[in-house]
Amino acid sequence: MSNASLLILPGDGIGPEVMTEVRKVIDWYGARRGLTFDVSEDLVGGAAYDAHGTPLTDATMAKAQEVDAVLLGAVGGPKYDVLDFSVKPERGLLRLRKEMDLYANLRPAQCFDALADFSSLKADVVGGLDIMIIRELTSGVYFGEPRGIHTEGNERVGINTQRYTESEIARVARSAFELARKRGNKVCSMEKANVMESGVLWREVVTEVHAAEYPDVELSHMYADAGAMQLTRWPKQFDVIVTDNLFGDLLSDLAAMLTGSLGMLPSASLGAPMANGRPKALYEPVHGSAPDIAGTGKANPIACILSFAMALRYSFDQGDEATRLEEAVNSVLADGLRTADLLGQEGVAPVSTAEMGDAIVAKLDASL
Ligand code: IPM
Ligand code: MG
Repeated sequence: MSNASLLILPGDGIGPEVMTEVRKVIDWYGARRGLTFDVSEDLVGGAAYDAHGTPLTDATMAKAQEVDAVLLGAVGGPKYDVLDFSVKPERGLLRLRKEMDLYANLRPAQCFDALADFSSLKADVVGGLDIMIIRELTSGVYFGEPRGIHTEGNERVGINTQRYTESEIARVARSAFELARKRGNKVCSMEKANVMESGVLWREVVTEVHAAEYPDVELSHMYADAGAMQLTRWPKQFDVIVTDNLFGDLLSDLAAMLTGSLGMLPSASLGAPMANGRPKALYEPVHGSAPDIAGTGKANPIACILSFAMALRYSFDQGDEATRLEEAVNSVLADGLRTADLLGQEGVAPVSTAEMGDAIVAKLDASL
């Protein structure tokens, strides 16, 4: 693996704290496994706005286009609520997704054995859960035109547009089928074809791609509301779920919580292959910037560390090393280490963000 480059964008809130722990892991791979990365760091979100008056500078955007992978912490915070939409921290993230054309957002919901009791659902419903939501990330109502707030007569009207082209649907469907072949070989596609034309087209295109290219994969369809219900009733019926940008946003939060804490879940956002064969890629935890606990040492670094594991697997072809890291996480949890978000039992003292990071690095050492 030569010249692998990583751009780290810690962002806002707990982003910088959890990223500090990821840097320990990255350094470990350099020192102990010979996996060295050219790491650069830059600003995104509110941090970039404070420094430059924009949530993502053109220079940072250009750098993101050049590197092998971007690792992002989190963006946003109450301080920025008053800003105009065009410069809100979230726009920085959305610009990265859009301009890098990261159309396939992989959001695994995996229940670690040690945390099965942690879910709001019964342990037998979530124990061993391992599903993957693939959320379309660059189109749909997040980006469709027309959009905006204007005045009609004597009142204001807010408008957003759900828009999908056939090719946008087909490419994310292919991502889902490809991934399913490496897992349980099942895809469930979710939309609202009962009320939305874009949903009718979504179902048709997914069905066509399946028949033409992936007849070996088991395909089912569900309305997204029923999908939400089934995810809470019996989530283990699913393997890969593919859905649009907005439904994917909702369903992935729901799936995340099945596992006990949002602080555990990583994500990968992937686009087309670059000249070197690696996909355009951005990795980030599913959780947000959690401004209420920022700076208190309470944040759970696991989602961000597991996002780096996804980078090892999907960008750098280091599946075995990704597994090593995931097992290190599993093992600290099995030992009973818990950050504050994972505390249910009384009398168990939480470990800090840094202690969790150090414990994971110690497990990596022990794995050699
Ligand atoms: C997510 C987040 C983002 C989204 C926000 C921060 C723009 O909720 O990644 O799920 O809505 O996509
Ligand atoms: Mg979300």
